[in-house]
Amino acid sequence: MEFFLDTADIEQIERGLEWGRVHGATTNPTLIARQGKAYLPTVQEIARLVPGPVSGEVLATDYEGILEQGRRLAGLADNVVVKVPLGPPGLRAVRQFAEEGIRTNVTLCFSAAQALLAAKAGASYISPFVGRLDDLGEEGMALIEAIVEIYGNYGFSTGVLVASVRNPQHVVIAARLGADVATIPFKTLEQLYQHPLTDRGLEQFLEDWRKTGKGFDDP
Ligand code: G3P
Repeated sequence: MEFFLDTADIEQIERGLEWGRVHGATTNPTLIARQGKAYLPTVQEIARLVPGPVSGEVLATDYEGILEQGRRLAGLADNVVVKVPLGPPGLRAVRQFAEEGIRTNVTLCFSAAQALLAAKAGASYISPFVGRLDDLGEEGMALIEAIVEIYGNYGFSTGVLVASVRNPQHVVIAARLGADVATIPFKTLEQLYQHPLTDRGLEQFLEDWRKTGKGFDDP
């Protein structure tokens, strides 16, 4: 499973890349607005930094507008994937983008039916939002299970990109279910590394050695 960072914050992206486990990135209008920067240049800057796919979302909601903005996003860099909202105009545009060789990430997916439609349209990725389903009292990860099963049944090549990830459990369950990608907020990426027993164990190891009064190279 690949890890993408779900952020438009350049410092977070640089740190995630430095740690070495981040392959791609996903953005959305909310994340870019939070940075207070221009839209297209932000996607372009992220695409320059990140080696793998970088999702940049169209702001248009009509077919022609989605096509126009999507082509401009895809033109920013080879690794830009055009993020398109679910719905008839979006999925129609996904089909056209596929014919043009432009990769797409269909976003705001909340049902297996929507994921099936996206795959049939030829989407490169589907983004089911698990955290937002949990917020409604539904089980977000059950949607991932259903999509993985359906895509497996028919051999769809659309990648399952688990989005709206809120905690390490989302990432672990996504991996157990065989999802292709988890796009992870920076805070959750940090949490993946952490366990209180790791910290306590390390403290104990170092404390025990300190008691010997010897250094690393002392005989
Ligand atoms: O990738 C989609 C993600 O950014 C949505 O996350 O936490 O706003 O539901 P959230």
